[in-house]
This record gives sequence, C-alpha cells and structure tokens, in this order.
Amino acid sequence: MTSKALFTIACAFLLFPALSVAAQDDAFDAEQTYQATCFACHGTGAAHSPEVGDQIEWEIRMEKGMDTLVQNTIAGLNGIMPPRGLCATCSDDQLKAIVEFMLDSSL
Ligand code: HEC
Repeated sequence: MTSKALFTIACAFLLFPALSVAAQDDAFDAEQTYQATCFACHGTGAAHSPEVGDQIEWEIRMEKGMDTLVQNTIAGLNGIMPPRGLCATCSDDQLKAIVEFMLDSSL
C-alpha cells in the first residue's frame, strides 16, 4: 500500500466522527462535537486558530463578551474561522455550549 493510500484512509477515519455526531442530534454532547469538528483547528492551532488550553489567548477573546464570541462562531470570523465552525447541523444553542466547553477547558 502506498503512503498516499494510507493517508487517504487515515483522513476517512478522521472525518467519520463528524458525520456520526451530526446524524444523532438528540444525543448532543458539546465535548464530543468539539472533538469531532472544532478540534481539527482549535486543538492544533491550525490556520492560527486560538488553541483550546491557551489561557492568555482565550482571556483576550473573552474581553469581547460571550455573546460576541458566540456570534462570531455562528457567522464565522475574518474568513478563516468558518461559519458554525463547520458544524452545519449544530443549533445556535449547541454552538454556544461548545464555546462554553472551549472556554472552560482554557481558563
Ligand atoms: C478550519 C479551522 C477551524 C474550525 C474547524 C473551527 N474554527 Fe473556530 N476559529 C478558527 C480560527 C482561525 C479562529 C481565529 C479567527 C480570528 O481571530 O481571526 C477561530 C476563532 C474562534 C473563536 C473566537 C471568536 C472570537 O470572536 O474571537 C471561537 C469562539 C471559535 N473559533 C469557536 C469554534 C467552534 C465552536 C468550532 C466548532 C463548532 C470551531 N471554532 C471550528 C478556526 C477554526
């Protein structure tokens, strides 16, 4: 097997949790949804995203107020934070719950 094929398979496994979480809406779990959708950027700092666990980064963002953070999550920010953080099936309340989880894990 080529390394390219292995990479493709690894990607398929990485993407699958996002699909399965989106399917079961009633069993919403903020942490699980974070891991499945937001972690790709916010767990790694990809695309200069604020990393969860980086206290100073989130303290500065918290100064905008929770409502603004949630609004920016819903609408996207500066063309690099995608609208709804790529969770197309998340409701506004669910996105807010994920932002709360991210802040709890950072501050
Ligand atoms: C493709 C990468 C990517 C994904 C996926 C992603 N984010 Fe982001 N996010 C970013 C980047 C980059 C920023 C920083 C944007 C800036 O400050 O210009 C950001 C910023 C934020 C902020 C701070 C907003 C502010 O006003 O400072 C919040 C809150 C946030 N993201 C929540 C989420 C949530 C919740 C999810 C999952 C549902 C998510 N993000 C998924 C890249 C991502």
